[in-house]
Amino acid sequence: MTQNAPTPTPNDWDRRGLPAWSFFSEELLELEKEQLFRRHWQLVCHESDIPGAGDFMTLDTVGERALVIRDREGTVRAFHNLCRHRGSRVVAEESGTCKSAIICPFHGWAYNLDGTLRGAAQPGTLPELDPVTHGLKPIEMDSWQGFIFVRFLPGPQPKMHEILAKFDAEVAQYDLEKLQPSGDGFDATPMTANWKCVRDVDNEGYHVPLAHPGLHDLYGPNYYDEAFEGGTSRSYGGFREGGGRHWSVRNYLKILQPPEKLDEEHAKAWLYVGVFPNLVFGFYPDQVIFYHEFPQAVGETIQRSASYKRGDEDRRMRLARYLSMRIDRITSKEDEQLIEWTWEAAFSSGYDRIILSDLEYGVHSYHEILREHFPVLREDEPSPGAMAKRNGELLGAAE
Ligand code: FES
Ligand SMILES: [Fe+2]
Repeated sequence: MTQNAPTPTPNDWDRRGLPAWSFFSEELLELEKEQLFRRHWQLVCHESDIPGAGDFMTLDTVGERALVIRDREGTVRAFHNLCRHRGSRVVAEESGTCKSAIICPFHGWAYNLDGTLRGAAQPGTLPELDPVTHGLKPIEMDSWQGFIFVRFLPGPQPKMHEILAKFDAEVAQYDLEKLQPSGDGFDATPMTANWKCVRDVDNEGYHVPLAHPGLHDLYGPNYYDEAFEGGTSRSYGGFREGGGRHWSVRNYLKILQPPEKLDEEHAKAWLYVGVFPNLVFGFYPDQVIFYHEFPQAVGETIQRSASYKRGDEDRRMRLARYLSMRIDRITSKEDEQLIEWTWEAAFSSGYDRIILSDLEYGVHSYHEILREHFPVLREDEPSPGAMAKRNGELLGAAE
């Protein structure tokens, strides 16, 4: 159910944000990798990225390697991209097609598309191997509206389709199961910042009027955020009356003919759905996008993204999509600078926490979930070597 209004903020809330140390603590990053990135659902791709038997897509993150592949029967399966012989990647590319088997490039062990071991190279040199126990190791998988998610280790979240069920009715009008890859592939943008800096910039629209003239031109005062609740957030930007001072926005508004299935609220709007810990979907009348961040190091982040066109896209819609992508590209560039400055600030001797506006309540609601996982964020930085233990104690005390 949609709420159609920003989340009302309480009279009295903690406006201080996260402590500076949380942006450069190596020990916290290790906890985040373990608790957030390995134990929360991560989006790999859309079903349309792997339409045929043997088509695959991979996702590397925080030391994990996922392989999502469609088998001969059309079933999508997820495995560790890890040969059972000596751990090589069984597929080297980010995406591609395995003809009838997955052949490890190291010594040539062959796996069927359902992950079972077909045979080792020179099998006489090895003991007998069971095809299932020596098959590729499965990873937990779930899908929502055609989007495929994996989870490397068991975690606290329900299934992704359960978490996102509250949006099912609203997004049904975008025909998500019919989406097609835009053809631009998956993008991976390196950023010089802690991954949480990216989230903090992204989780509020307070900066839009000044930092994003194009976006402001598109939806301006009609933008609002609904804070994180149940692990998701929702933001809505209804196109403003009289917008179009910027070339891309003017032409986008002129050319876009919203699909008939979109109701009034969505025909002229960009809708965003945030999913804890690191994912954002954008539902536009002309395309659907997603982006998510993965830490490489405390100050190095990769933002991975992809876009999908409508199944019924015509020439006019294609042009509209080109223009909305252009608006988005400019916006991302503008954000990159802000993200880096936020990251640098944490090192400054002048940095003494921050103060959040009511329009940044979404940032706070996101921090609240982080603080539930890492109550240690409410304290001064633990002494070296003590982070995991202290956090464990606080979690134990909270139970
Ligand atoms: S590591 Fe895969 S065949 Fe040897
Ligand atoms: Fe932004």
